[in-house]
Amino acid sequence: MIKNEIISLIKSKRARVGVVGLGYVGLPLATAFAAKGLKATGFEVDAAKAEQINAGNSYIGDVSTQQLRECVESGRLRATTDFDNLKECDAIIICVPTPLRKTKEPDVSFILAAAEEIKKRLRRGQLVILESTTYPGTTDEVLLTMLAETGLQLDEDFLLAFSPERVDPGNPDFQTHNIPKVVGGVTDDSTETAAFLYAQIVNEVHSVSSARVAETAKLLENTFRAVNIGMANEMARLCYALNIDTWEVIRAAATKPFGFMAFYPGPGIGGHCIPLDPHYLSWKARQHGFDSRFISLAEEVNSRMPDHVVQLVSDGLNDERKAMNGARVLLLGVAYKSNIDDVRESPALSIIDRLRSKGCEVSYHDPFVRELRFDDTHTESSGAALCSIELSDEQIKESDCVVIVTNHSQIDYHRIVNLARLVVDTRNALNGDLRRASSARIIRL
Ligand SMILES: NC(=O)c1ccc[n+]([C@@H]2O[C@H](COP(=O)([O-])OP(=O)(O)OC[C@H]3O[C@@H](n4cnc5c(N)ncnc54)[C@H](O)[C@@H]3O)[C@@H](O)[C@H]2O)c1
Repeated sequence: MIKNEIISLIKSKRARVGVVGLGYVGLPLATAFAAKGLKATGFEVDAAKAEQINAGNSYIGDVSTQQLRECVESGRLRATTDFDNLKECDAIIICVPTPLRKTKEPDVSFILAAAEEIKKRLRRGQLVILESTTYPGTTDEVLLTMLAETGLQLDEDFLLAFSPERVDPGNPDFQTHNIPKVVGGVTDDSTETAAFLYAQIVNEVHSVSSARVAETAKLLENTFRAVNIGMANEMARLCYALNIDTWEVIRAAATKPFGFMAFYPGPGIGGHCIPLDPHYLSWKARQHGFDSRFISLAEEVNSRMPDHVVQLVSDGLNDERKAMNGARVLLLGVAYKSNIDDVRESPALSIIDRLRSKGCEVSYHDPFVRELRFDDTHTESSGAALCSIELSDEQIKESDCVVIVTNHSQIDYHRIVNLARLVVDTRNALNGDLRRASSARIIRL
């Protein structure tokens, strides 16, 4: 049986695991397999990334250069742009991007491109796993159809499963090994084999009855976050209108030991998961005539947050009889969340764009992001790159308003509240002591 053959290769550490796409998800995964003594090959379309890996240099925060170097020097990890090496792999895990089209419909073209490369080389004895977040049915409707065109038979020749990635970049408490892994195969043999493979690198594997369940579980997780963050954002706007401290309200509610889970407002949602993934679910739902209203409502509320932040800046300046036009606004943090360098879908981009459209002179400081580039969706800023400035005393003092967009922990907020005139804090980075000691006027979300 193919299942037993692959499991025996894994057990004896003779299995080679191929990881297609070496980004935030793929590189930590390939490194985890190599660190546990399996042989791992990473497949990349970006030759510069493959070169970096083979030179032992990590470009992903969650993988240290030392960890990567050990794996590369031991010969257990290498990266390549040559997809012919897929033939050597006993398991192939796809970790390519799944963005949205401009119409907000799923763009699975990266999955299709990766699957095409696999299909060309599929051989008897391979387990293929999709990890990219996608709509329910991608694995058994799209991938299986493609792989079956080779004439090879599912279960007899190859196995196919879906296992969602749950990595949380920059989270020091949860890394690959201690985040339980959900696995759903297209067949039982596929589930069991994929679960056995992941058990080599994670403490807990949760098997489900199908790939569709695993695909949907991932979308539920991220939709849950999007909806609850939307609720927190709505509360923040409501509390602002009522002149009530949102953060104190949430802190109080969170003392309830059951039936409440704290979510926090912010300047808007970013990254390549929370703003995008719910659309994969609502798109699929629409194909079946179902309208997922929570998803659209959450998107509507969350996408208005950058406007609300700009309103807070405008209100703060107005109280000082200053106009937005010509105001010097300094953003602290542009990454979509704290302590990482990822600016994909970051609300900072929309905030900068909106501030510029009002005539503000915008600068930013982010210890993780040296340069910001704007694509053509940010019309005011299109084409122009902005570079992170040094956080000098003068820069802080001369700013009409400092906006904390991302609460990176290495920023000295004490210095900010002592030097700035007006601070808009969208992340509750300024705790009670800092606010009491502050000479700046502080407006919180
Ligand atoms: N980043 C996260 O926090 C996170 C968390 C959970 C799930 N996910 C999901 O995981 C998937 C990957 O996300 P990511 O953040 O790692 O993306 P990423 O953009 O960081 O990395 C993807 C990599 O795939 C490469 N690539 C693209 N097409 C390829 C192809 N045909 N063959 C080989 N390589 C190819 C790209 O060059 C890139 O290096 C997405 O579906 C995402 O939604 C991401």
